[in-house]
Amino acid sequence: MLAIEQYTRRLLKDFHPIVAANRPPVDVAHEPADRTRFVRGAGGLVTGLSGLALATGAVWVASVRDGLEGELEFDGGGEPMMLETTDGSRFQVSWVNPPRLAYDLYYNTIANPLLWFVQHYLWNLAEAPVLDDSTHLAWNEGYRRVNQMFAQQVVREARRGRKRPLVLSHDYHLYLVPRLVRRELPDAVLQHFVHIPWPTPQYWKVLPSYMREEIMDGLLAADIIGLQTHSDVRNFLLTCEENMGLPVDFRQQTAFYRGRTIWVRRYPISIDVREFERTAASPMVERAEREILRWRPEQLIYRVDRMDLSKNIIRGFFAYERLLHAHPEWRGRVVFWALLQKTRQDVPQYREYARQVVQVARVINQRLGSDSWQPIRLELRDDMSRAVAGYKQFDVLLVNPIYDGMNLVAKEGITVNRRGGALVLSENAGTHEELGEWAITINPFDVDATAQALHRALLMDPVERHARAEKMRAVVQQNDVARWISAQLQDIRDLVEPSAARRPEVGLHEPVPLERELLR
Ligand code: F6P
Repeated sequence: MLAIEQYTRRLLKDFHPIVAANRPPVDVAHEPADRTRFVRGAGGLVTGLSGLALATGAVWVASVRDGLEGELEFDGGGEPMMLETTDGSRFQVSWVNPPRLAYDLYYNTIANPLLWFVQHYLWNLAEAPVLDDSTHLAWNEGYRRVNQMFAQQVVREARRGRKRPLVLSHDYHLYLVPRLVRRELPDAVLQHFVHIPWPTPQYWKVLPSYMREEIMDGLLAADIIGLQTHSDVRNFLLTCEENMGLPVDFRQQTAFYRGRTIWVRRYPISIDVREFERTAASPMVERAEREILRWRPEQLIYRVDRMDLSKNIIRGFFAYERLLHAHPEWRGRVVFWALLQKTRQDVPQYREYARQVVQVARVINQRLGSDSWQPIRLELRDDMSRAVAGYKQFDVLLVNPIYDGMNLVAKEGITVNRRGGALVLSENAGTHEELGEWAITINPFDVDATAQALHRALLMDPVERHARAEKMRAVVQQNDVARWISAQLQDIRDLVEPSAARRPEVGLHEPVPLERELLR
């Protein structure tokens, strides 16, 4: 990250950068039991943003969550805290501490599931969602209120600095923040990045107009709106046009609102390749790998995911069951290892989904397993070293989300895999735009096609498998997280210094001059 740090500091020397995201950059590690230690937080957002925050020295405004609340003594609204993680990274965190009920309505009613389900097309619209006055209440007392608290904290942090504020707000939790900050800091540069898919204008109409218009009004107060894929950018512009009646320019990727021009850009998030490779070579991962080598079969199909409905875990199991029916020759020779983490367990749909995942795996094992062989190895465990050891060992990685903003599992897996493993990849994962050409593409709803894709991946000639893996690795190496950061910073620079502006249609595979400098 050294090059990106120097580059970022140079580019941002005239700014006071502030990151705002629901999640903080750190998690609490409870070992050893007698003291609180911090580790880098998990998840795509934290992975991508940590580099940016460390490189810019930005203050990170985040919400207190249950796990952390008991551990730290602080008041929301106070001075930022310097938190050092076990790997020596130092983050300045400025806390928002919403009342528990407000946080619950914001996080567990509006953000998850309502917005998350809309943006991943997860609602079964014949039955749900059923919106009523309680939704309105959750919007007012939860989502709006917590967004207001975030905005106040961002403004407080901005006023502590002497330079022009640059506010980088993130994701579906904070859609109202840009407007609320703009009111207080009209000259600030505001960028909002959306990590999850942006659906079609029609699907947004699941939400009542008061909600979707406030979301758009909130976001369109930013100068730049960042999204993961071409399709997201297009859907966003279409939403401006069709749902808001705004003029937009698809070629220039701009929308016009309240006398301002808003840039709508694609920045596909990625991983820190070098750091990830270091992690993969660490003693903890090697230890985990040795344990895997004791039981791994001839061929290992692998998946690692949060137990989120968008990840499509159950159809993945059904597809595997069909593979074993259609090709009994694989029985006893292959294992499907699913390393899953529980998530969002305060949301009833997630609790029910976790229950079903476990149940389906159990039934398949009962139907097809024997005393000496279990077709599915299901582990519910949040263990980064083990997950990375699995990446090194898979023959086939199954990434079959219904829809996914990007999916860093695919990028992490192919970066450190040692066996020339194949990637079976949903056409609806954001990462398909970058890796689809060399992956085995599936429609995530079609379990027979997925079974065939798994079969093809297992049988693929090793030379072809290695060649494809190499191509994918090269793409991730080139488009790693440094590039995600630099592309955004260049746009911010172009925005404030229009003479340096570059054309929006510059492709991902052609580094622009500043990127070339960075990549050297
Ligand atoms: O952008 C989606 C995202 O924020 C990811 O970065 C992350 O993996 C996931 O959702 C985490 O969700 P939560 O913070 O609700 O656990």
